[in-house]
Amino acid sequence: MAKMTVKDIDLKDKKVLVRVDFNVPLKDGVITDDTRIKAALPTINYILEQGGKAILFSHLGRVKTEEDKAGKSLKPVAERLSELLGKSVTFVPETRGKELEGAISKMQDGDVVVFENTRFEDVDGKKESGNDAELGKYWASLGDVFVNDAFGTAHRAHASNVGIASTGIPTVAGFLMEKEIKFIGEAVEDPKRPMVAILGGAKVSDKIGVIKNLIPKADKILIGGGMTYTFYKAKGMEIGNSLVEEDKVELAKELIAEAGDKLVLPVDSITVAEFSNDLPTEEHTGDIPTGQMGLDIGPESIALFAQTLSGAKTVVWNGPMGVFEMSNFARGTIGVCEAIANLEGATTIIGGGDSAAAAEQLGFADKFTHISTGGGASLELLEGKALPGLEAINDK
Ligand code: 3PG
Repeated sequence: MAKMTVKDIDLKDKKVLVRVDFNVPLKDGVITDDTRIKAALPTINYILEQGGKAILFSHLGRVKTEEDKAGKSLKPVAERLSELLGKSVTFVPETRGKELEGAISKMQDGDVVVFENTRFEDVDGKKESGNDAELGKYWASLGDVFVNDAFGTAHRAHASNVGIASTGIPTVAGFLMEKEIKFIGEAVEDPKRPMVAILGGAKVSDKIGVIKNLIPKADKILIGGGMTYTFYKAKGMEIGNSLVEEDKVELAKELIAEAGDKLVLPVDSITVAEFSNDLPTEEHTGDIPTGQMGLDIGPESIALFAQTLSGAKTVVWNGPMGVFEMSNFARGTIGVCEAIANLEGATTIIGGGDSAAAAEQLGFADKFTHISTGGGASLELLEGKALPGLEAINDK
C-alpha cells in the first residue's frame, strides 16, 4: 500500500484523531462480539507508546431519528476498550461541544478519549453520512493529525473519515487498515497461484461485482449457497422450490459463458421440503425435484471443492455454502472450512460478514491467515472498487 501509516509520522505530544470501526453487535447494552475493538488495539497502543493522545470515534449502527439513538451509544464500547487496554478511557457523551473540547484540552500524553457515535449527527440533516464539510472541519480542528483505522467503514465517504481527511490535516492509515488492504488487495491483484475464490451466500445479485472482477484474476471460482440455484436455472436444470433470482438468470448465463471452466458449481445438494431444521433432509445429485429446496451443498460437492482447493496458494472465501445456522445444512460450510484449514503454505482469507461469523461459530476462525473485519468494505475491495476512506489517506 503506497499510503502513509502511523509509522510515518511523529505522534509525540500530538492530539491524534483516530477513526476506528467500533460498529459492534450489542444486545441489551452488552457487546456480543468485541473482535472489532480488539482489532484496533495495535494502532491505539502504538499511538500511546509513542506519547500521543488518542481521541477515538466511530459510528455504531444506523441512526436517522432521535429514537434510533437508543441502544447505540458508544459508552459500553469505551468501557470494554478500557478493560482491553488496562487503563482508564474517558467517554464523552457528545459528538461536538464544550464537554468534548474540555475533555480534549485536559488530555495528557498517553490518555484516551472516546466520543459519542458519529452517526448521532445524522439526526440533524445527515451531517455524518452526508459528509457535511463543516462537521469534517470541526472534527479535524480537535486534533493535530488524523489516523484512519476504520477499514470496515472505508467504503463510505462520511464526515468522520473522508470529511476530516479532506481538510488537509495529515492523514495516515492505522495498522488494521494497512493489514486489511495488504491481505485482500494482494490476494486479488497479485496472488500466489493457484488462486481459488469461494463465493457463497443467498443472492447472485450481492456477488455479481465480485464474480466479474475475479473471473480474469482467479484460477478457479467455486460457487455455493443459495445463489447456486440461479446458476442451475441458467443451465436449464430443475431447482424445485429452491431460492432463485429470476431477473438474474440471464446474467448467470453470461457469467457461466464468460468464466468457462473456471466456474465450478456444486454437483449435489442437501434438500428439504420447507425452510426448517426439523424435517427430514434428502440428497440430490444435479436436478432438485419438485417440492424440495436446496439449502446446502452435498457430499460430492464438498469432495469436488476440496479437490479443486488442493494445492491452492491463495484462497479468498466470501459467503457460506448453505444455511450453516441450521445444523442440517452446515456440513457444506464446515467441509469447505476443513479443506481450507488443511492447505499447506497457502494464504487464506475470509472476506468478512457472514463467512467470518460462520468460521467463528463453526470453530475454524484460527485456521485462516486473515479474517477481514469489514463486510461491505471487503466486498467492494473484492469487486475491484476504490474505497473512498482509503483513497483519502495521504500517499507516501
Ligand atoms: C459494517 O459493519 O459493515 C461497517 O461498520 C459499515 O456500517 P454501515 O453499513 O452501517 O455503513
